[in-house]
Amino acid sequence: MRGQFTYSKKVLSHFRKPHNLGNIKNPSGLGEVGNLACGDVMKLYLKIEDDKIEEIKFETYGCAAAIATSSVITDLVKGKTIEEALKMTNKEVIDSLDGLPPIKIHCSLLSVDALGEAIYDYLVKNNREIPKELEERHRRITTLADHH
Ligand code: FES
Repeated sequence: MRGQFTYSKKVLSHFRKPHNLGNIKNPSGLGEVGNLACGDVMKLYLKIEDDKIEEIKFETYGCAAAIATSSVITDLVKGKTIEEALKMTNKEVIDSLDGLPPIKIHCSLLSVDALGEAIYDYLVKNNREIPKELEERHRRITTLADHH
């Protein structure tokens, strides 16, 4: 049994060897979000072709949980359409890591939010219509950031 504050094996393996760490020059979309709970920052880069995520990379100053969730989210959405990627939930990310300690749940939001923001950025740059749900997510993230 794992204790309440212990990381799963999957978290530790993604943390030690993160997948798709780095950045993309001239990304199709860039998402940047800060975590209000701890002040950590996450940047997520996308290369999109025909609405499909061809490449995805991330950079973060976040903790082990932030690194592991970002790493796993890059694996989960690579090759997917942006529509599919937008359906990605926090829960899916956490489940695919065999869970996170409760005090670390907020860290996982960072990667899901950064992904949403990167897709938002791509749609705006291409003068595309923004789905209502994504517009609301964007507003929530940026409003929170402004108040910080
Ligand atoms: S403590 Fe900051 S992202 Fe986890």
